[in-house]
Amino acid sequence: MSKDMRYITFALGKGRLAKKTLELLEEIGITCEEMKDKDTRKLIFVNEELKLKFFLAKGPDVPTYVEYGAADIGVVGKDTLLEEGRRAYEVLDLGFGKCRMCVCGPESAGELLKHHEMIRVASKYPRIAKDYFYNKKHQTVDIIKLNGSVELGPMVGLSDVIVDIVETGSTLKENGLVVLEEICPLSARMIVNQVSMKMEADRIKELIKKLKEQIRK
Ligand code: PRP
Repeated sequence: MSKDMRYITFALGKGRLAKKTLELLEEIGITCEEMKDKDTRKLIFVNEELKLKFFLAKGPDVPTYVEYGAADIGVVGKDTLLEEGRRAYEVLDLGFGKCRMCVCGPESAGELLKHHEMIRVASKYPRIAKDYFYNKKHQTVDIIKLNGSVELGPMVGLSDVIVDIVETGSTLKENGLVVLEEICPLSARMIVNQVSMKMEADRIKELIKKLKEQIRK
């Protein structure tokens, strides 16, 4: 490995996604021992041998780091990519973190979706909700942005329906809500900065190739 090789930097969405990503990278021989130390307060981790850097960021910030080139590569949920609308190449579906973006609510709200009624939609994903209702369904709705526990919306009378992620469906079930419409499937994606993709084409393409082969196994 040449001495003047520059670092390739990864931004990983904090939490389960980062854990899964590191496991996958490890399977193709990319490790970051520094990162395994649970007590560390470090924010950036380095693999000197492979000239790689890693940092953890809040999911919605990952595409921002990648668009500006502060990270060459990012791993984040498709939901976040759609919501943030940042410029980057989406190069790989990593196959984990699978779930669905759905319109949910009480069974009775199904009628409201059929007749283009002016309804209230609560969501952590206002952009996805807006795109779905305005551009796909041609239904004018009032979108209310929430930051979590979105299922509360219809339960406390804030909104008629919600647009949210459904994984197992247990949150909905335990709160008497159902999936009314499915918007799109979601999973973890790898994104690459557009300049990095050209400047570091060989290293990045090799990495994508190895990951693809590993995912197929
Ligand atoms: C997500 C999502 C749903 C739940 C879906 O919330 O917003 O609430 O998981 O999973 P399930 O179908 O397996 O029940 P998260 O736990 O990320 O927290 P949040 O509600 O604060 O966003």
